[in-house]
Amino acid sequence: MSIRIGDEAPNFSAETTAGTIDFHDWLGDGWGILFSHPADYTPVCTTELGYMSKLQNDFTQRNVKVIAVSVDALDSHHGWINDINETQNTTVNYPIIADPDRNVATLYDMIHPNADDKMTVRSVFVIGPDKKVKLMLTYPASTGRNFDEILRVVDSLQLTAKHKLATPVNWKDGEDCIIVPTVSDDDAAKMFSDIRKVKPYLRYTAQPK
Ligand code: BEZ
Repeated sequence: MSIRIGDEAPNFSAETTAGTIDFHDWLGDGWGILFSHPADYTPVCTTELGYMSKLQNDFTQRNVKVIAVSVDALDSHHGWINDINETQNTTVNYPIIADPDRNVATLYDMIHPNADDKMTVRSVFVIGPDKKVKLMLTYPASTGRNFDEILRVVDSLQLTAKHKLATPVNWKDGEDCIIVPTVSDDDAAKMFSDIRKVKPYLRYTAQPK
């Protein structure tokens, strides 16, 4: 069954490059990103996992744990990490799940047989501290993802989890936000300063500190 935003992220136990994990225990009380790649020792995936490694401190600062998955075996992951580190000038420190029996890939509907029946597509799941799925992305094997966008999305998700705000098109951390329509003007005036009302339904305010 496919997963939808708001569903609980399915739990699983799996072997990873950092040992065996229970996914929910591994997530703990923080945020998580589970992302799949089609296969080890492939060019686009090599650049993606290397770039994610360079962003890992940014995710850690936001209390987000990162974990990758593909249907390759553990020894393949370990060998390939050396190549990623060498070619992308980084050190991969986040775990990679070995999923040769496709347990995780099936739970998260990561194999799209009409695209390829053997490899996972490029999926991303952002999971909140409540273990609910907050965001899903699916890219084809031929297109590397924009991991800066995933960091941007985490900033938006964490902001909107705390405040009755949404974020407009192409929003970046520090820019003005939108007051959600369910908040009345009177309540908005109590909650936020410098409200700019463009239309009754389109009200901006500065990002709270
Ligand atoms: C790649 O990572 O380069 C890739 C993987 C599977 C299919 C096509 C490209």
